[in-house]
Amino acid sequence: MTYNSEVVWGSRADNYARMNGLWKPEELLVKKYFTRRDVTVLDIGCGGGRTLIPLAKMGFKKVIGLDISKEMLDRTKKKLRREKLENVKLVKSDAAELPFKEDSIDYIFNGFNSLDCVYPSKRREKALDEVARVMKPGGIIIHSFHNILTIHGRLRFWYWTPRMILEWLLDLPRDGGYLSDIGGAKMFHTTVGSEIKRFNKRGFHLLEKLQGGMKKTLSKIFVIMAMRYEGPK
Ligand SMILES: C[S@@+](CC[C@H](N)C(=O)[O-])C[C@H]1O[C@@H](n2cnc3c(N)ncnc32)[C@H](O)[C@@H]1O
Repeated sequence: MTYNSEVVWGSRADNYARMNGLWKPEELLVKKYFTRRDVTVLDIGCGGGRTLIPLAKMGFKKVIGLDISKEMLDRTKKKLRREKLENVKLVKSDAAELPFKEDSIDYIFNGFNSLDCVYPSKRREKALDEVARVMKPGGIIIHSFHNILTIHGRLRFWYWTPRMILEWLLDLPRDGGYLSDIGGAKMFHTTVGSEIKRFNKRGFHLLEKLQGGMKKTLSKIFVIMAMRYEGPK
């Protein structure tokens, strides 16, 4: 099993294509912090276009949807055919190797924990480096991730820790922090404090953080933060 491969994500494209629209906390942060319109917005791991399309409709100069999965991008393309949007560009790429110049992106949107899907954690760290590299000083990221300290996070912890020990004993692929695996898609979980530190050391500072997401029952596991990039540290 190749965890978090393009094939794994491609097989889930129909599910993601059915989702549409910003979640309430995402909408609040976008309205508050993505205030300029003469800018380039990168929707990283855009999936089936749930957030890309509303972002494009807000009238930013350019909105780029990037995803590792061709299947996901094909679903987004199909949805885009129904819209008259001339400011959208789709890019197939790995978030850990962003095909953009330094200081070229004003706003980055990471919805529904897409960066938690970059596996293993060294690649995830590389993706965060890439975010800092391409972002213009003064730029904003709206970034979501899984909070391990919520009830759902803890339940996953107790379910996955014995499994990880087993993986270790059997020498299966393993990587601490990836608690949950839905059909080969492992998700990174962390604490709010350590995620803020990961961004602080790359030159970002926290503006605001909210909790919440898709379904009410699961919503507390998602944290969504708005952060400003001050420039390289
Ligand atoms: C949980 S889905 C979220 C999709 C979308 N952001 C949303 O809110 O509906 C994660 C997305 O990240 C993409 N993805 C996973 N690993 C990636 C990587 N290394 N680089 C770029 N995209 C990746 C998947 O293909 C998938 O579309």
